[in-house]
Amino acid sequence: MSVYLDHAATTPMVEPALVAMNQQLRKLGNPSSLHTPGRSARKDIEQSRESLAKVVGCIPSEIIFTGSGTESDNTALKGLFWKGRKEGKNLVLISAIEHHAILDPAQWLQEHEGAQVIEIPVDSNGVVEIEALDTLLSQRADEVAVISVMHANNETGAIQPIAAIVQAANEYSIPVHSDAVQSFGKVGLNFAELGLTAMSLSGHKIGGPLGIGVLVLKRGLELPALLHGGGQEREIRSGTLNAPAIVALSAAAECSIPVEEIQQLRQLLENGIKQAVPDAYINSTGEKLPGIVNATYPGTESDTLLLLLDAEGIAASTGSACSAGVQRPSHVLLAMGHNEKSARSSLRFSIGTSTTRAEIERVLEVLPVVIERARAANLR
Ligand SMILES: Cc1ncc(COP(=O)(O)O)c(C=O)c1O
Repeated sequence: MSVYLDHAATTPMVEPALVAMNQQLRKLGNPSSLHTPGRSARKDIEQSRESLAKVVGCIPSEIIFTGSGTESDNTALKGLFWKGRKEGKNLVLISAIEHHAILDPAQWLQEHEGAQVIEIPVDSNGVVEIEALDTLLSQRADEVAVISVMHANNETGAIQPIAAIVQAANEYSIPVHSDAVQSFGKVGLNFAELGLTAMSLSGHKIGGPLGIGVLVLKRGLELPALLHGGGQEREIRSGTLNAPAIVALSAAAECSIPVEEIQQLRQLLENGIKQAVPDAYINSTGEKLPGIVNATYPGTESDTLLLLLDAEGIAASTGSACSAGVQRPSHVLLAMGHNEKSARSSLRFSIGTSTTRAEIERVLEVLPVVIERARAANLR
């Protein structure tokens, strides 16, 4: 039996998305063309934009289609920084647990564009410390070009206090961007209610296709572009619109993810881990996404665990970057207070729509044996 528990990395396309994409792929017409096939493709896109806007609580013109969550993050962070810099602001505030799609452009802005980047710390549950942000703002608010804090973390699932962050930022009229790639479809997400300036989404995490992302950007806001060309998408993201991926994304967003079932499977997995490996502990125990279980297994190395599980047909993840074959400890777990050793003994299982109870039971059957082997390998 093969078990896929890496749905936070990518998850299978849902049937309505596959059907919509297949149909659209057979249609002709560049959506920017004025002839009938072009206008027809444009109509399909605009319908998708409207239904997507309803799902995420924004107006249709606030939706900008991009090529990925990474592109949306880069466009928002760099664009808002450049906009702020024109007003003499060069400070970029991000949380210490951002995905590399924010961490790396922030570092790039620091190295190439004169930005100063400050990371807001998190507590031991992996939640941004709002008091630390308040202190920073009370001292340096007039220097801040942009604040970017993810809606939920991809490694631990911990949900972040976005409403409180926006409230703090509003006092100083600072724009706030949130990477909501992991939250999209899994927890309530309403752009207008959150009061955000910008929000990133991605297609392939919700049963839509790869290669499509969304930047939700407040109405009327002009942002310097990363890509220049045909002037599509408010001149913020030039490039022929990817109609098949857009209609498929919107079809996927219309399908509700069975959050309660996923949550029950997560509970089963978490309880089972604690029973099967008594000294293991779950990382992030507060409010979190329904399908993510990140646990530490003392005395093991996570890459050994990954390989041993893979040999049993089980796909999991460390959630952290792998550089030149050497597993680096997760910056998220380090920020939560782990030392390098415990961060390197941690693993993420992520549950999705297609996950079954039998699959979770299979993992729980295999896990104690795998942990024992990984511990023995570590002692050698
Ligand atoms: C929180 C978060 N942000 C951004 C991304 C990047 O999205 P994409 O794969 O669409 O570029 C991911 C994907 O792993 C993610 O988990």
